[in-house]
Amino acid sequence: MIAEPGSPLASLREEVLGCTKCDLCKSRRHAIFGEGNPAARIMIIGEAPGYDEDVQGRPFVGKSGQLLDKILAACGFTRTQHVFISNIVKCRPPGNRTPSLKEAEVCMPYLKRQIEIINPEFLVLLGATALRYMVGEKYKITAMRGTWIDIEGRKAMPVYHPAALLRNPALKRPTWEDFKALVWKYREIVNPQHHSEHV
Ligand code: URA
Ligand code: URA
Repeated sequence: MIAEPGSPLASLREEVLGCTKCDLCKSRRHAIFGEGNPAARIMIIGEAPGYDEDVQGRPFVGKSGQLLDKILAACGFTRTQHVFISNIVKCRPPGNRTPSLKEAEVCMPYLKRQIEIINPEFLVLLGATALRYMVGEKYKITAMRGTWIDIEGRKAMPVYHPAALLRNPALKRPTWEDFKALVWKYREIVNPQHHSEHV
């Protein structure tokens, strides 16, 4: 689903797609705004686009994205209806390196505005980079995953990044526990009838 033409989200998208605030604009094929339901109650926040995302202009379409889709499906969530997916940094850092502090700081205002416009109840923070820039640099993903953190009245939960699950399959089990807790809270707060085959 794409934002209505002329809406605040659509204008912000145009701004992001034309952004030249940092050097990542020189090497990118696409700036990736994010996608999903502009009225989603859940926002999923990753780190930065990788190779596949840069080529296709969509977030989480590579191997990590395929795993994320499987997890969302098990929760009964779809990209078009239940979530909006974006990243801390909107352009691919060359070689998929972690975004620099400066790149993250320059780009974060876009994410903040996305969050204000979409106004989700839940923020799912995928991995160490999302946790660092959304919550603070002293927090560790291993300690914070699966816990609820209040971010300006929203319920944020850090979880391991799908790329971490691909590198270390032992992280899949705790991550599934975390997503189950998200489904329970979603039923409590958004929709008691929310259906999932697995939770
Ligand atoms: N990893 C991320 O953090 N974001 C994407 O969009 C793709 C992979
Ligand atoms: N390291 C990361 O960058 N992300 C995780 O989710 C776990 C370890």
